[in-house]
Amino acid sequence: MDLQDKYPSLGALKTRAKKRLPHFAWEYLDSATGKEQQMARNRAALDQVLFETRVLGGPQTANLTTKLMDQTFDLPFGIAPVGMSGLIWPNSEQILAKSAVTHNIPFCLSTVATQTPEELAPHIGQNGWFQLYPPKDLNIRADLLKRARQAGFHTLVLTVDVPVASRRERQRQAKLTIPTQMDARLILDCMLHPHWSLGTLAQGTPSLKTVEKYAPPQIGAASTAHAGYIIRGAPDWDYLKSLRDEWQGPLVVKGVTTAVDAEKLAATGVDCIWVSNHSGRQFDGGPASIETLPEIRAALPAGFPVIFDSGVEGGLDILRALALGADFVMLGRAFHYGTAALGQLGADHVVHMLKEDIISNLGQMAITRPCEAEKSLRSQPKYR
Ligand code: LAC
Repeated sequence: MDLQDKYPSLGALKTRAKKRLPHFAWEYLDSATGKEQQMARNRAALDQVLFETRVLGGPQTANLTTKLMDQTFDLPFGIAPVGMSGLIWPNSEQILAKSAVTHNIPFCLSTVATQTPEELAPHIGQNGWFQLYPPKDLNIRADLLKRARQAGFHTLVLTVDVPVASRRERQRQAKLTIPTQMDARLILDCMLHPHWSLGTLAQGTPSLKTVEKYAPPQIGAASTAHAGYIIRGAPDWDYLKSLRDEWQGPLVVKGVTTAVDAEKLAATGVDCIWVSNHSGRQFDGGPASIETLPEIRAALPAGFPVIFDSGVEGGLDILRALALGADFVMLGRAFHYGTAALGQLGADHVVHMLKEDIISNLGQMAITRPCEAEKSLRSQPKYR
């Protein structure tokens, strides 16, 4: 099968993914919170970032190599942490880790993934980051950090935009619980999606394997208030300071939406700011992430690393984020549309599509490096 022709776009993978997933898994992947207006704003604002093309640039060879926090990656993007990744598609974490190594891009494992750092250790090479939902109990935190480090995950990503659970109305309506509760409705849903069900049978019921050992046994019952929520706290600045002391490697803070927070975080000794509004999954009342990026960049010292995510759907979006101040871009949903549609082939295909799209757009702008995209901006988009 020629993937290029059959699935030339992320949209094509998304259509296939939706058909192959049980409803609750699709809703988990595809939804946001509230009326999903922030998710819509992410898309609309990215579309407003326009570039100038240039003619007669002569032959060009694109160079997509990108350095971030002293590591050189082959591409300017990587795989963002996604909770319950293996519930979306069986074995997603391992599939994505392998893709990351093959293409030399980072893969960030979620605290609330369905595979553990230990299970992924043989597959992650030098490309593993670990995302931390901050445990209240500092002994649990120390244990998690030790496990991640020993498994070879050298960069820590602290998520700070989940101080409380969001409502996630679509997920509620789809009766998403973890571990999954097998009622008649779910059994029918699984029967109608045999690829997902057979894969899940082979992998075992998805559960939050990294953290479930820390949750009190009475919380084991299926619920959206899963083990990850139970152990997680709402961290403050002191928590961050002590984490900074405890973690020796690069520390990234994910979920930043304002310049004022970014400035304070840089002064607290973190190594990288990750600008994100959790793709609209936490709050429906804020601006598009891309809108906040230039002011955050401006508030940081020159050269301070900035990562961007939130609604990125193609190579052009990656260039938009780089042009407005990011050094690197991460994608979560996009890679899971890929695994859900086509397993390992799908993950690799997403990388390939993004890469081709970047190269093609660079060619139109007559530049060879993604970090030069800023020079081709037509105008700063006007949001206000
Ligand atoms: C989510 C959490 C797990 O967005 O990050 O579902």
